Amino acid sequence: DKGGWSSFMAKEIAEQPEAIANTLRGRIVDGIVEIPELAGLGADTLRDIDRIVIVACGTASYAASVARYAIEAWARVPVTVELSHEFRYSNPVLSERTLLISVSQSGETMDTLMAVKYGRDAGVKTLSVCNTQSATIPRESDGVIYTHAGPEVAVASTKAFIAQIVALYLFGLHLANVRGTLTAEELAELTEQLTGVPEQLAEVLEVTETVRTLAHWMADTRSVLFLGRHVGFPIALEGALKLKEISYIHAEGFAAGELKHGPIALIEPGQPVFVMVPSPRNSPVMHSKIVSNIQEIRARGARVIAIAEKGDAAVLPYADEVIPLPIAELFMQPLLTVVPLQLFALELSTAKGLDVDQPRNLAKSVTVE
Ligand code: BG6
Repeated sequence: DKGGWSSFMAKEIAEQPEAIANTLRGRIVDGIVEIPELAGLGADTLRDIDRIVIVACGTASYAASVARYAIEAWARVPVTVELSHEFRYSNPVLSERTLLISVSQSGETMDTLMAVKYGRDAGVKTLSVCNTQSATIPRESDGVIYTHAGPEVAVASTKAFIAQIVALYLFGLHLANVRGTLTAEELAELTEQLTGVPEQLAEVLEVTETVRTLAHWMADTRSVLFLGRHVGFPIALEGALKLKEISYIHAEGFAAGELKHGPIALIEPGQPVFVMVPSPRNSPVMHSKIVSNIQEIRARGARVIAIAEKGDAAVLPYADEVIPLPIAELFMQPLLTVVPLQLFALELSTAKGLDVDQPRNLAKSVTVE
């Protein structure tokens, strides 16, 4: 039941504040993360791991790529993200001190299931992040963190994506606590930031009208580029994937630092480019680098749509459009930045008269390799 919404995707985007409140519910107690379901992965095991490999496909792999930065920053454990199907055939270097985390909304994606089985057979500990109770992948894993985002019907993942990042953040904070890499004050501060996310998500949904106008204006666009740095980079990739999936428009995401190593050759007058702008408060250096990137592409005629923290005056002279974000700390910002990109794909698909929920050639869950 779409509950009055024009599509399941529109409904699921709107449900994000509630979905994330559910991901967090009962898991933060006095500034400490508690995940009882980790059962098979106790504190001793988590203190002993020396490396984390996250396997996932599609949107789930971008959620993992965002969380990688946070887990490394907080728990000081090296984290790599591998596409499940690439991992399995790469003869990966694993040991009993490796933790293999899988991320899957459905818990049934065959490529990811096979990667988990491969890891388990190689003797590594396995943790699954999953949205579907009692799905196959969590049953095959030593521990599970359910995202509790509620059922997701639209093929293009939205609320599950944000919930996956939040669940991985909870794990990162738990890991930092058992390994003693963050102080009690730091943990309290970060858990408080997470607790504030549902409210910030409700605020960012207020950009819907702005994005709709933009999407209508761009309905005939043939190609859209997305640029981001650090946590903004996987968000750029996710924004491009959403557009490909439901609008059938050529879209590519790039690391902003790569621009001059190739992609800038694509910029011609009128080329739309979405830029994920980090907050100047959180990361002044990254912010000024992104502003330079915006100047470089603008000088070559790009139409720049900047997604930036409200009040960021530095981007105003160079951006054709600015989509304002609520004030948020470094690792909370990607959870907000992705929302206008989800809305843009939804509105563009709608403007083109396409089936938003059931895009051609795609299935919600791919249960063959
Ligand atoms: C794809 C879906 O086939 O599978 C994507 O179309 C999804 O939306 C990907 O991100 C992974 O699915 P899951 O269920 O493993 O998260």
